[in-house]
Amino acid sequence: MKYPKEYLEEIKTRLKVSTVVSKTVNLKKRGKEYVGLSPFKTEKTPSFTVNDEKEFYHCFSTAEHGNIFDFVMKTQNLKFGEAVKSLANLAGMQPYTFSKEDEIREKKWNNYKSILNKYVDHYHDELLKNSNSIRAKDYLKKRGLTKEEVQKFKIGFETNDLNFQQNIFKEFNENEIKDTGLFYFDENKKKYVSRFRDRVIFPIKNISGDPIAIGGRILNDNKYLAKYINSPETPFFKKGSNLFNLDFARKLSNNVNNIFLVEGYMDVIGLSKNKIDNVVANLGTSLTSRQILTLNQFFDEIVICFDGDDSGYKAALRAAENSIIELKPEKKISFLFLPEKHDPDSFVNKNGKDFFLEFSINNSVSIHKFIYNHYFKEMDDNPSSRATFEKKLRSISSTIKDEFIRKYVLEYFLDKISELTPNTISKYKKNYSKITKSLKSTQNYYNETKSFKAIDIKEFSFLYILLKKPELIKDNFDLIENVKLFSSENKLLLKEILVQTNNFENTVIEKINVDQNLIDRVLKYASIKHIMIKNFNDDEKILEILSEITRDLKNYELEIRIEELESRFSKDLSEVTFNELKELKKLQKIN
Ligand code: CTP
Ligand code: MN
Repeated sequence: MKYPKEYLEEIKTRLKVSTVVSKTVNLKKRGKEYVGLSPFKTEKTPSFTVNDEKEFYHCFSTAEHGNIFDFVMKTQNLKFGEAVKSLANLAGMQPYTFSKEDEIREKKWNNYKSILNKYVDHYHDELLKNSNSIRAKDYLKKRGLTKEEVQKFKIGFETNDLNFQQNIFKEFNENEIKDTGLFYFDENKKKYVSRFRDRVIFPIKNISGDPIAIGGRILNDNKYLAKYINSPETPFFKKGSNLFNLDFARKLSNNVNNIFLVEGYMDVIGLSKNKIDNVVANLGTSLTSRQILTLNQFFDEIVICFDGDDSGYKAALRAAENSIIELKPEKKISFLFLPEKHDPDSFVNKNGKDFFLEFSINNSVSIHKFIYNHYFKEMDDNPSSRATFEKKLRSISSTIKDEFIRKYVLEYFLDKISELTPNTISKYKKNYSKITKSLKSTQNYYNETKSFKAIDIKEFSFLYILLKKPELIKDNFDLIENVKLFSSENKLLLKEILVQTNNFENTVIEKINVDQNLIDRVLKYASIKHIMIKNFNDDEKILEILSEITRDLKNYELEIRIEELESRFSKDLSEVTFNELKELKKLQKIN
């Protein structure tokens, strides 16, 4: 069975070609493209290019060319289905399982898409061509929109065309139409009516650009009708999962690092009209962590810019408390507050692009500062209010999932709080300085570990056991004799340890003939350290751990040799290489 196109598209939109390729090829950025050494050929000068925007790679020396699926199939020798599975996993998606229901759902999705496309196209045409739409045209003109924005966002006007409705009901079945949320059954009139009639309509698209829902605005504000209505939840539109304009904005992620997150349709359109296109809207609903994670797949910094009124501020605070939970190292979330009575749309139209961007650089506040400042302003000058304040901040920081971010946000809060209690020289102060000190050392530790590769750290663990349990190793030499290490420094250390062990002596750390730094590194960074300390006298357990580590190391070695052979095979296409490769892959399965 075929994978549904939208599933494959979603994988492609979540994974840049460069992300996938750089797992195996060292890429350097050059203009809009990346270049590197061809994985299909041994070469000294890079002839392999990756273009994220066009979603392909091209190898000039072998004329290999394709998308992420081709790349994985060719470099890892996988069938299409296996490549899809492995990339879906990398993209954080569920594997696709085919069933009868899938088939039904796929058909439903095709009809859903088809109805929405017809609807959007038809009422876009109505806006542009039908004389009944003159009121809507005037309205949009009054709001500063030109034909360019109307076409770019496929804005329409719902003229309640009954002919169109009839045709839809002829072509599709009732349930499928009901599922789109475009029409609902009016019990009094005993017929289907158009939900968005007499409204300007804005198509909401999924990440691949298919319309999945509609937002509709009335032309004249009045207190009886909601200013905006949106599609209800449907089988293919879930609130809190989508972002308006993400399909356009994500394409800019090669050129800009940040994305503006605003509240409304008109904010996105206003910024876009002023040539700021890296903007999405969450459409007045509260921001979800799913939306943050989606944005982070494309952009390092999210700048949340809501309306400069009370409700905008409250929404911003809610967004801050929801999204700080997901904050990750290397990522940034900040808040931009506009002058009162402005929203991003009015502000950028009044001041223009350059002013807006400069204002944003000078005035955005990091998420942790915003939260601190907010609760600080709320606090009264009395002990119980201050205590509540501290407790609140501690509790917010404790929700953060990433342990490093959690520590640094807490450190920031405690640091600021300590400025409020200059006279407290008590135990608390001492404890506090102890906390911050340990936090600082965690930061150093974190920076240092980041400079090691995963394989280095695995090797450290292996060496750690050798150093700490020499008597155990001596009796189980078979476990370690065939292990090959990759880091040349670790190799050297292993060699020296073995010189001693071979002589049937226990290793004496001080006597090992290498730079002490190499040993210190192992003792400090081996990830196994804590487990070892806990189980120091449990030899059986330690042997078990050791054999697991050696298995991992051997697998890693296999992987490297397989990679080498694959690249040789892609060049020489020889039977001998192929058989050797097959053998190694078999071995890899056994391990
Ligand atoms: N919204 C909604 N229902 C409402 C009001 C608002 O769904 N009754 C959503 C819409 O997605 C809207 C967003 O919240 O775009 C922001 O609301 P608001 O600031 O009032 O809308 P603007 O985009 O500023 O709309 P306009 O400029 O057209 O008045
Ligand atoms: Mn607004």
